[in-house]
Amino acid sequence: MHPLFDLTGKTALITGGGRGLGQAMAMGFAEAGADVFICARSGDQLAAVQAEVSAATGRRVEYSVVDVSDREQVKKLAVTALEKMGRIDILVNNAGINRPQAIVAIDDDDWDTQLEVNLSSIMALTRALVPQMKERKWGRVIHISSVLGVGSKEARNAYSATKAAVIGMSKASALDLGPFGVTVNCIAPGPFLTDLPMSLLDDAQKQQFSDFTAMNRWADPREIVGPALFLGSDASSYVTGATLLVDGGAYARAL
Ligand SMILES: NC(=O)c1ccc[n+]([C@@H]2O[C@H](COP(=O)([O-])OP(=O)(O)OC[C@H]3O[C@@H](n4cnc5c(N)ncnc54)[C@H](OP(=O)(O)O)[C@@H]3O)[C@@H](O)[C@H]2O)c1
Repeated sequence: MHPLFDLTGKTALITGGGRGLGQAMAMGFAEAGADVFICARSGDQLAAVQAEVSAATGRRVEYSVVDVSDREQVKKLAVTALEKMGRIDILVNNAGINRPQAIVAIDDDDWDTQLEVNLSSIMALTRALVPQMKERKWGRVIHISSVLGVGSKEARNAYSATKAAVIGMSKASALDLGPFGVTVNCIAPGPFLTDLPMSLLDDAQKQQFSDFTAMNRWADPREIVGPALFLGSDASSYVTGATLLVDGGAYARAL
């Protein structure tokens, strides 16, 4: 492994690490040498990822069952993660939900929940964990946004609002934290084969998403690992406030 990508001695917290992109990043970071802390609501999924990743890599993997839509649980998550792991060097704000609703049909409770999960919890967790990164003069914060935070799609009002907001927040945080050796960046994924889009789209829409990319296919969840490792390691030491599109070229298309 190139030393720039070596995470030996580092500890990563990945929200939504029970399946999908979070699961892939937990494995990828552990393979690069990091100890990993994951959280989500489904304890059985977290336990399965813990067993799989620790068996495959020999790294320490811990988890907490947490609902990040509850601000008190987010505060407790930060305390628990620091107590169990001693330090968090890399924070990946990955947990996210998408409840599509056209503008005239938005349910207030759904709107509030999406803002809490996809935006406010990210602020609260980042706020809680960056002080100890600043003390060590090294930290990596990665927000998982979306191509739908750069452009959008019909009925993605709350989703796009939150995914664009984390891009904006990452720029401000990058400026706050740059002098302390802590970088803050976003990844904007295109279509990845996970439960989230699969549960929302019919077959025609799945084909349409694939056709929209330059590569004419959906991504395997493991294809998030390279970009996440780059932004989570010394390889990206002079990259902050950036948004990395990982979309198979979908956003290259104008028409
Ligand atoms: N897949 C794509 O095509 C795609 C594209 C662009 C952006 N993204 C973004 O990538 C991130 C990961 O998505 P994914 O595709 O991997 O989706 P996923 O397979 O549905 O995984 C989402 C993860 O977040 C957790 N989560 C959801 N709500 C939570 C809550 N209230 N509290 C704690 N954990 C919660 C889920 O666990 P529980 O349900 O057990 O809580 C799960 O572990 C999301 O931010 C998503 O918006 C995905």
